[in-house]
Amino acid sequence: MRIAVIGTGYVGLVSCALFAELNHQVIGLDVDKDKISKLKKGQVTIYEPGLESLFQKHLNSGKLTFTTDYKKAIKDIEVAFICVGTPPKKDGSYDSKYVYASAESIAKNLKKYAVIVIKSTVPPSTTTRVKKIFATHAKVKYDIASTPEFLREGSAINDALHPSRIVLGVESKKAEKVLRSVHKKLKAEVVVTTPQSAQLIKYASNSMLATKISFINAMAIICDKVDADINDVALGLGLDPRIGQSFLEAGLGYGGSCFPKDTWALIAYAKKLGYDFNFLKQVDQVNQDQIKYFITKIKKVYPSLKGKTLTVLGLAFKPNTDDLRESRSIELVNRLLKLGAKVNVYDPVANDLAKDVLKGVKFFNSAPLSLINSDGLVLATKWQEFGDLNLRKVKKSMKNPVIFDSRNFFDPSKVKKLGFKYQGIGRS
Ligand SMILES: NC(=O)c1ccc[n+]([C@@H]2O[C@H](COP(=O)([O-])OP(=O)(O)OC[C@H]3O[C@@H](n4cnc5c(N)ncnc54)[C@H](O)[C@@H]3O)[C@@H](O)[C@H]2O)c1
Repeated sequence: MRIAVIGTGYVGLVSCALFAELNHQVIGLDVDKDKISKLKKGQVTIYEPGLESLFQKHLNSGKLTFTTDYKKAIKDIEVAFICVGTPPKKDGSYDSKYVYASAESIAKNLKKYAVIVIKSTVPPSTTTRVKKIFATHAKVKYDIASTPEFLREGSAINDALHPSRIVLGVESKKAEKVLRSVHKKLKAEVVVTTPQSAQLIKYASNSMLATKISFINAMAIICDKVDADINDVALGLGLDPRIGQSFLEAGLGYGGSCFPKDTWALIAYAKKLGYDFNFLKQVDQVNQDQIKYFITKIKKVYPSLKGKTLTVLGLAFKPNTDDLRESRSIELVNRLLKLGAKVNVYDPVANDLAKDVLKGVKFFNSAPLSLINSDGLVLATKWQEFGDLNLRKVKKSMKNPVIFDSRNFFDPSKVKKLGFKYQGIGRS
């Protein structure tokens, strides 16, 4: 099938590679000329394991092309996926202007029937407005649909090729048939529903996962008070099949481009509908407070941070990605700086991007170098290479051998045996 993917960020670029791999003819469009020029030259613009090879394969096979020209992208497509950003506004609601702008450009350039799919995460009111935009500007028939995206950065290619489910929010049998055909090579349960329900499935999923994280973080605080171990509590809890193990990892809280934004957007959307989503506000509050809580654990070792050098390992919001959006690590670094600490930082893939957002820190090209003469190793992201560090050597190079483990990544008994002081979250 001929598919246009509108917006070539994390979701758009992965979708381009996926649809090409599913044997479709794909054209990726973005308004960012620099991005498209790089993509045309074969430069992958984001870090995502497995993307590079799939991208090169299909750029070379000719199944994947790129443009900034809507006329060219839309002229003979059967399906368009809108994958543009929906960043948060100050009041928590999301900014819809990119979705509406792209919808208008598609509508104006559509030459024959196509299914227009909103893949960006949006509340149901957006579909209504997109339909109005099409009613005003499109001169041919179309269907508006919604297929929310559930990929996780860091394992996006695997998630795209092996999705947990495919949700088709459609309003006609014709659109359902087209979208089933787009996804037919993927083995996953298909949920066919309305666009409104599809969009709420996405918000409900992210809000539920955020809830699990805040719940386990709140439990971690209780664990600290009674000398219990949150990892053991999470294991025992998660073995209940009604609950499950995933997302029960205590830490700095959730960040990234989705959970914070989507919980805020659902709270704001509920408010517009006349419902006070107090429950979700508390989930958000626990998340906001988690960094403060971690700093109290640092202060147990260093009541004053003035003059202390702390090394923060990991800057992106999670391992295997360079995405810094709403990264808890970045916020932690900024708070440590405010408290008077000197901060060394290192991230395996996000150093260059972080230079634009972090000022007043010292960047290093390797973890061992960043730890020399440091008063504390602050583990902020669970990159495997941090687990592989030679801690015996690291200890010798540090001024004070202390590990502040905001992700409960290290084994406390092992690192204590090596001579480190250790502070985790919900265990020590
Ligand atoms: N990143 C994730 O892990 C993830 C997962 C699931 C869902 N989502 C949702 O998918 C959507 C996209 O997220 P993302 O992380 O890929 O965003 P992104 O910021 O990485 O990419 C968005 C792209 O859209 C382009 N764009 C903006 N306006 C445009 C227009 N009018 N026409 C064409 N292109 C335009 C931008 O230049 C940018 O390249 C968001 O709604 C997000 O909430 C993201």
